[in-house]
Amino acid sequence: MRATLRIALIALGVFLMVLFLPAVVHGPFSRDAHTRVLHEHAADVYDRPLNAAPPLAAIDRQANVDILAPTLYPEQQYEWITANQKATHALFRCMERGDCAQNQTKVVIIPCSNFVLFLQKGYVGGEAIWAHSTLQALHNMGYTVLLTFNMHSATQLYHIFANLVKMVIVNPEQADGCLREASCVRSEKNPAGIPAWKLFSFCWWPGPANPLGANWTLSPEDYQYGPNTYLGYSIESQCYKYPFVPHAERKKSQVYILAKFLKFFLPGKTAWPPEFYDAAANATGRCFIENVGPPLKQDAFYDLLSHSAALVGVENPRLSPSPYDALCFGVPFINPISDWDKKNPTDRTKWNTQHDMLKHLSPPHVYHVFKGDRDGFVNAIRDALANPIESYVPDRMRMTAVQDRLGKILERDWRVEAAELLKAREAGTVKGPHTGMLFLLQRKLARKPGIHILHLD
Ligand SMILES: *[C@@H]1O[C@H](CO)[C@@H](O)[C@H](O)[C@H]1NC(C)=O
Ligand SMILES: *[C@@H]1O[C@H](CO)[C@@H](O)[C@H](O)[C@H]1NC(C)=O
Ligand SMILES: *[C@@H]1O[C@H](CO)[C@@H](O)[C@H](O)[C@H]1NC(C)=O
Repeated sequence: MRATLRIALIALGVFLMVLFLPAVVHGPFSRDAHTRVLHEHAADVYDRPLNAAPPLAAIDRQANVDILAPTLYPEQQYEWITANQKATHALFRCMERGDCAQNQTKVVIIPCSNFVLFLQKGYVGGEAIWAHSTLQALHNMGYTVLLTFNMHSATQLYHIFANLVKMVIVNPEQADGCLREASCVRSEKNPAGIPAWKLFSFCWWPGPANPLGANWTLSPEDYQYGPNTYLGYSIESQCYKYPFVPHAERKKSQVYILAKFLKFFLPGKTAWPPEFYDAAANATGRCFIENVGPPLKQDAFYDLLSHSAALVGVENPRLSPSPYDALCFGVPFINPISDWDKKNPTDRTKWNTQHDMLKHLSPPHVYHVFKGDRDGFVNAIRDALANPIESYVPDRMRMTAVQDRLGKILERDWRVEAAELLKAREAGTVKGPHTGMLFLLQRKLARKPGIHILHLD
């Protein structure tokens, strides 16, 4: 019995040794087994069609945990990167679940520097204010917005989102550069590139600033003399951040002079010599203040402006958004007229004013005064102080109006319009390509018209 037990135990020992020997020699897997797993995995990877999902067992669950939570950066200047991550994740998730919101699958890529600069440096300068308004309109309508700061990364984003991309908003020189760069614009040699008709220039000044002309140039104002695509902007959200200061509280308050640089006060550069201010101060008992030199922090500027009784233009800067801010704060604007028809001085169509977009408004909102007209200047300030106004925002500058226009721009069939443009250019009935302000490049571009633009599909 004992011998039988001993033999049985020995047999069990040998059996176990045989079972575990390979593990002792080769580790938990035999080398063969290990190699086999690798091969199977590799075969699995290489045999799979390029765009197939990985098999469930190969999903790295650890790696998937954080993808739903975008990285947070300590500095405010990187917030736009977090916003890109959030927008991208949200887009992929909604596409997988099949529950995307109405405009979520419509992507707008924005390499135009004003947008990132606004997010990094804040709300200063006309272009930044316009960029802010445009971003707000896109977000309000639920579009997926991806920001970047050069055409290389815009092109890579385009490679990823391709047909989902509705529009790429660029600086004028980026539009021009992309059409000259074979790896940027879509062409027969570069079928993954950005189609020329999706590139829209973001340009503050009138006149075409895109190789496809005025219709592909977005404008902040409805420039009658340069028929670009009018997008416009709204200062409402910025203005409504500050309380409306009741006029009773402004009884003793100052008149603000709109001037960015000291040079705007130089004789010949300014509409009003210093004695005009003395005369007006004499007549009204108000003091005049201005800010030149380092720009005020935006809060300080809006605080000062909203407590002012009037805003006086001195001829420059032109087309600044500040008079709109002023009107929204209930502050009338004195708009200098630099040029006019001497035979018919009341003909506004011939006026050249500091802010031509306001030249069709009248008192009590905007007072137009001929350059050098001392009595006109003093009277305008006296009248402005005597006739306080409520908050005023032109209808075309309501956020709803901006969204309405932007929505229509985004929904236009630009491919068809570009094809028509191309036909017209080939027939010689429309001139182009041209880049407006970049007139020096115009002749060079004209020599090779439409090479890249030809590829429209
Ligand atoms: C989607 O965009 C269109 C304009 O392109 C706009 O009219 C519509 O209101 C937007 N939808 C939502 C939910 O905001
Ligand atoms: C620009 O768009 C307008 C419609 O808004 C159209 O009438 C005009 O023909 C277009 N011009 C060019 C050059 O494409
Ligand atoms: C200001 O008023 C005083 C007297 O009221 C007058 O003597 C002076 O000339 C006026 N100055 C200007 C610049 O009008």
